[in-house]
Amino acid sequence: MTVEILQPALGTVIDVRNETTSGDVKRIVVEVPRSRTSGAAWAGPHRPGQCAMLSVFGVGECMISVSSSPPLVSGPGRPGATVERLEFAIKNAGRVTSAFHELEPGSPVGVRGPYGNGFPVDSWKGMSLLFAGGGIGMAPLRSVINYCLDRRDDYGPIRIVYGARSPGDLCFKDELFEKWPGVKGVQVDVTVDSGDETWPGPVGFVPQFTESLAPSPDGCVAVTCGPPVMIRVMLATLERIGFKPENVFTTLELKMQCGVGKCGRCNTGSKYVCVDGPVFTLAEMKTLPSEY
Ligand SMILES: Cc1cc2nc3c(=O)[nH]c(=O)nc-3n(C[C@H](O)[C@H](O)[C@H](O)COP(=O)(O)OP(=O)(O)OC[C@H]3O[C@@H](n4cnc5c(N)ncnc54)[C@H](O)[C@@H]3O)c2cc1C
Ligand code: FES
Repeated sequence: MTVEILQPALGTVIDVRNETTSGDVKRIVVEVPRSRTSGAAWAGPHRPGQCAMLSVFGVGECMISVSSSPPLVSGPGRPGATVERLEFAIKNAGRVTSAFHELEPGSPVGVRGPYGNGFPVDSWKGMSLLFAGGGIGMAPLRSVINYCLDRRDDYGPIRIVYGARSPGDLCFKDELFEKWPGVKGVQVDVTVDSGDETWPGPVGFVPQFTESLAPSPDGCVAVTCGPPVMIRVMLATLERIGFKPENVFTTLELKMQCGVGKCGRCNTGSKYVCVDGPVFTLAEMKTLPSEY
C-alpha cells in the first residue's frame, strides 16, 4: 500500500492533564501505530528533539515537539512494537492548540512524522551537558534530558537549569523536583521571573541565573530552548562564558505547514527549518539571516 507523506496516522489520546497551574499548557499522551508498511503510520521511534505534525480533525494541524524520550526496551512503543506512546506539552496559543486542549481520553488525533533532525546525542558522548530551558521550551529538552539519563553512563555530569514566569508556570514539576535531582551526577536549578509566597527558590531570568551558576565550558555541550528573547540572550551569554559555538545547540520555532521541506513556509537563508532543523548549533545560527 502506498503511503502519502502528508497523510496522518490515526492516533488516540490516552491521557490529558494540566502541566501548569492555569492550565494554559497541557500534557497530552497519544498512542499511534508505528509502521510504514500498512497505510498511514508514525515512522518512529523518534530521535530526541524531533517533532510531530499533530491534527485535530476538522480544525487543522500544528507542529509540536515530542516531549517524551524514545522508547528503551520495554513498555508501549518498545523497539519492534507496533504502537508507540508519545507525550506532548501543548500551550494554548490559538485555533488548533486550543482544540487540543478540549480533547479527552479516547479522542482521535492525526499524527505525522517524526520530523526534523533532532539532537546529535551520539556526538555528545563523554562530554558534560548543560541544559537551559525556559517555559514551554522545556518540551524538547525534556525528551533529550530523559534520553541521556536513560543512558547515564554515556555522558559526564549533567546540569539542568529551568525557569518560567511564575511558580505556577513551571512544567514537568515531577521530574524537575523529584526524578532528575535524584540521579547521580545530575544537578537541577530552577528559577522564576517573579516569585510568590509559595516559592522558596531563586528569582531571576534564565540567562542571568545560568551565568551566576558559573558553568564550566570545558568539554561541555550546552543546549537551550525557550522563548525567542531568552534564546537570544542565552546564546550571547554562553558565548561570553566561553562555550564554543559548535558546542551550543538550540531549536528554532518557525511557522510550518508541510513539515517535509516542500512548501517553503519555514525557509530561512538556505535552510528549511523543518528538515535542516529545528536543532541548530550557534555556529550554524551565525550563518542564518540576522533575525535569528
Ligand atoms: C519545530 C516546532 C516545535 C514546536 N513545539 C511546540 C511544543 O512542544 N509545544 C507547543 O505548545 N508549541 C510548539 N510549537 C508551536 C506551535 O506549533 C504553535 O503554537 C502552533 O502552531 C499554533 O497553532 P494554533 O493554530 O493554535 O495557533 P494560530 O491560531 O495559528 O496562531 C496563534 C498565534 O500564534 C502564532 N504562531 C503560530 N505558529 C507559531 C509558531 N510556530 N511560532 C510562533 N508563533 C506561532 C500566530 O502567528 C498567532 O499569533 C512548535 C513549533 C515548531 C515550529
Ligand atoms: S514547513 Fe514546508 S518547507 Fe518547512
